[in-house]
Amino acid sequence: MKTDKDFQLGISIDPVSACNLNCYFCTVSGSRDGSIVNTEKLLIALENINDLRYHLKKVFFTGIGEPLLYKDLPDVTAKLKSKAATIGTFTNGVLLTPDLSEKLLKSGMNAFMISVTGLSPKIFSMFQGGNLTSSQAEKLYNTIQDNIKALCELRDKINKDALIRISYILTEDSKSDFFKSLSYYREIGVNHVQTRVLLNSEHYYEQLEANDISFIKNSAQNKEETTTIDKDYLSRLITFVKDKGESLCPFVGDSMQITSHGDLYACCERYDETFLGNVFTNSLVELVNSEKFEKLVGSLHGNYDEIPNGCRKCATAQSFLAIHYAKFEI
Ligand SMILES: C[S@@+](CC[C@H](N)C(=O)[O-])C[C@H]1O[C@@H](n2cnc3c(N)ncnc32)[C@H](O)[C@@H]1O
Ligand code: SF4
Repeated sequence: MKTDKDFQLGISIDPVSACNLNCYFCTVSGSRDGSIVNTEKLLIALENINDLRYHLKKVFFTGIGEPLLYKDLPDVTAKLKSKAATIGTFTNGVLLTPDLSEKLLKSGMNAFMISVTGLSPKIFSMFQGGNLTSSQAEKLYNTIQDNIKALCELRDKINKDALIRISYILTEDSKSDFFKSLSYYREIGVNHVQTRVLLNSEHYYEQLEANDISFIKNSAQNKEETTTIDKDYLSRLITFVKDKGESLCPFVGDSMQITSHGDLYACCERYDETFLGNVFTNSLVELVNSEKFEKLVGSLHGNYDEIPNGCRKCATAQSFLAIHYAKFEI
């Protein structure tokens, strides 16, 4: 019999609402306020994280900014070490110096996702070099690559089981470097290169059309429009997901998010309906065990009449479904 502990949770912490890069494609750059999480309050909030009724499988530092700007990251990682099997961070790699890599590995961080697109300063600059001259972008690119190499070497000495992954945005403009990047990263010891498809790009739409799932694009295109819900679209999406026996959204519960202000959301998208409360003023256990969360999970697993409006139009979930089911030609 399935129990609550079979439903596995992932919690993402968004420690800083600021970034040291200005990637052209970044979907989250518009909502930053420069705030940094209060470490003392965060640690108090996370103290009872293992008393949740669901099993906690991972804690990741990510969100709308660059987690390595958060100076207490090694200390907080050390405090969380025994609480989840995976403690990881997303990073653009710029601040991932050998010194910081060593501290993070020693504090128990065992998953690194480094977001770097292109295997040349030229392509890197096209995607991630916003506001930088070409020589500045080249210097940063070289720093990131040196940092990744050093991280791989340190991982081999400190914790061989730690996973190092690259997040690579795959488009027409970056595909020429893609296969080269696979052999290069394999050689230096990276475990995995994860491709991401750029939302709303021409290539993305072409591939959806080619796979006969172009209806998925509706929501991504109409993200701003929150009042009208395309019922036909939603019912097609439900049929589509039901046939595969999957949740309408892979992120609710898997990528719950705590913002730098302590607000807890059921997933990485911040809608009223996914807002569960503030972990600095209420107990995390209470918020995760709440009726609101249970109802939200139920609505995505078959109780479709209850699906919140925000989720009906969520571009993140639909881009995932599109990537999951479409074959992207590269
Ligand atoms: C928003 S960033 C935050 C953490 C960190 N600053 C980083 O870049 O890894 C998290 C991930 O979202 C990805 N991302 C941002 N905008 C995207 C977009 N428009 N399409 C696909 N992935 C995107 C980034 O490449 C990165 O891997
Ligand atoms: S480094 Fe990450 S958060 Fe910063 S602009 Fe790039 S994708 Fe966005």
